[in-house]
Amino acid sequence: MSESPSRLINPDARPDDRLDQALRPKHLSDVIGQDQVKENLSILIAAARKRQEPLDHVLFYGPPGLGKTTFSHVLANEMGVAIKVTAGPAVERAGDLAAILTNLHAGDILFIDEIHRLGRAVEEVLYPAMEDYALDIVIGKGPSARSIRLKLPRFTVIGATTRLALVSSPLRGRFGAVYRLDYYDLPAMSTIVSRAAGLLKVKTDPTGIAEVARRARGTPRVALRLLRRVRDYAQVRSDGTITSDVAHEALNLLNVDPLGLDEVDRRVLLTIIEKYNGGPVGLNTIAASIGEEPDTIMDVVEPYLLQLGFLDRTSQGRVATRRAFEHLDLPFVDGTQQPRLI
Ligand SMILES: Nc1ncnc2c1ncn2[C@@H]1O[C@H](COP(=O)(O)OP(=O)(O)OP(=O)(O)O)[C@@H](O)[C@H]1O
Ligand SMILES: [Mg+2]
Repeated sequence: MSESPSRLINPDARPDDRLDQALRPKHLSDVIGQDQVKENLSILIAAARKRQEPLDHVLFYGPPGLGKTTFSHVLANEMGVAIKVTAGPAVERAGDLAAILTNLHAGDILFIDEIHRLGRAVEEVLYPAMEDYALDIVIGKGPSARSIRLKLPRFTVIGATTRLALVSSPLRGRFGAVYRLDYYDLPAMSTIVSRAAGLLKVKTDPTGIAEVARRARGTPRVALRLLRRVRDYAQVRSDGTITSDVAHEALNLLNVDPLGLDEVDRRVLLTIIEKYNGGPVGLNTIAASIGEEPDTIMDVVEPYLLQLGFLDRTSQGRVATRRAFEHLDLPFVDGTQQPRLI
């Protein structure tokens, strides 16, 4: 995504998030929140183990930074199998996928991130591989070309996507288990922040933890990033302990408001409210007005604003809700009741 890398609450991974690797839960029991997904996964794992079979193919979807990659590695770990990692845009040709598939061992997991970005021809190779553990290759060209079928070991595909709607239905249909990851609630976020603070050996008090958790937009990756910045602030401007005052000051300085909204979120809301009278206005128009990619708004900004109840999606476009006006201290105008020129 082509978003400004400096955006602190952008849940897309950034190079400095490498440090998160150390904080990434290894076992299902270390994973915080997402209780229903965890319970379903534990059944999936237990059943596969009992039958001594590889895991069924699993698809995770949901906004960035909620743990799709984490869950995939946890699954590999719990099953005691190897995980090969690739991503939709990295597998350019059918031959690339064939090479990956023929290198798999029985039980291995093939993790395909951004699976909605796989090309058509590559997907066609994946279908029989997932369904029949078979690879069809064409040998030769023209009239003498013939197709031979190679047997593949039984393996598991784990797909991850932020855009379920862009995963073609034949591909989606080949996943035995599909799980949606949702934003984390406040208690889960607080536990994640406090666990990370413990691992990073940062001194905190419970109100400081709560302040960071509240502003991390229900997203663990954002929480870890805010925690690191607040830690810096605490060490430079205070005695190193993250208290609620320290967190409050540090996050205000970083322009992350009490609900976790940053400049871009506010610009989206202000554009709808001030330029378009509260909406409805189309996503592309909003994106053009503020100079962001429509994809960024759709993947990152909008899901959280919808979750907060700040935006409504109507057939004519996006509408700012009363809550959004209130949050920005602006007098409410009901976008859906506006007389419009046709
Ligand atoms: N349930 C959790 N408990 C504790 N930490 C978590 C949890 N989920 C995610 N994290 C932390 O948040 C970070 C981001 O998670 P992860 O990389 O799995 O997100 P993702 O959904 O794969 O994002 P993307 O869509 O950008 O690939 C991880 O480094 C991990 O440390
Ligand atoms: Mg990921």
